[in-house]
Amino acid sequence: MIKIAPSILSADFANLARDIQKIATADYVHVDVMDGIFVPNITIGIPVVKAIRPTTALPLDVHLMITEPVRYVKNFCDAGADIVTVHVESDTPERTHEALKIIRECGRRAGIVLKPKTPAEAALAFLDEVSLVLVMTVEPGFGGQKFMADMMPKVKQLRTWIDERGLDCELEVDGGVDPVTCRTCIEHGANVLVAGSAVYGASDIPARIAELRG
Ligand code: DX5
Ligand code: ZN
Repeated sequence: MIKIAPSILSADFANLARDIQKIATADYVHVDVMDGIFVPNITIGIPVVKAIRPTTALPLDVHLMITEPVRYVKNFCDAGADIVTVHVESDTPERTHEALKIIRECGRRAGIVLKPKTPAEAALAFLDEVSLVLVMTVEPGFGGQKFMADMMPKVKQLRTWIDERGLDCELEVDGGVDPVTCRTCIEHGANVLVAGSAVYGASDIPARIAELRG
């Protein structure tokens, strides 16, 4: 089954609880955390994750676009994140392994993220310790960017490795996913689709979520 993870980056931050209620038919709430260093934008952090936790029964899928995430992963778990993903580009491999270990020890699901220029092979060293791999289909930092179709071979390669190894690992895509581009993502093996502007820009949000399932 295809899962939809609307990104609250496109929600109204003055009405977050209300806008999270609007996506009740989705599967995850995608939370984009940016520090102004790893990416050229600053969004939200630990207190906001804690504040929205009681407003929804959906799992919180927290995408950390921050340098040295090992410093903060426990805080995000304690704040109520269900899935915490860290970029492989944001620290050394050793410290990325450490961050994933901390997330798992907190009883949460750990994942890694690959920026567009990062090859699929960068995920190999982590595949056995993650329950989700996220392939960026835009440069991280902003919502509303154009979908990068040239990321599809990377998605397909990761799907092949996950299936060959029989791993219990989801494959997520993030950036520019809309009712057209969702189809190629699904065809290439993604099973979790993040969508910000395509969901919050729709006049009928539940219908749009259903449409994105392909
Ligand atoms: C970008 C974020 C995305 C973003 C997606 O850095 O990671 O989650 O909100 O927005 P859309 O779906 O509008 O491309
Ligand atoms: Zn994201």
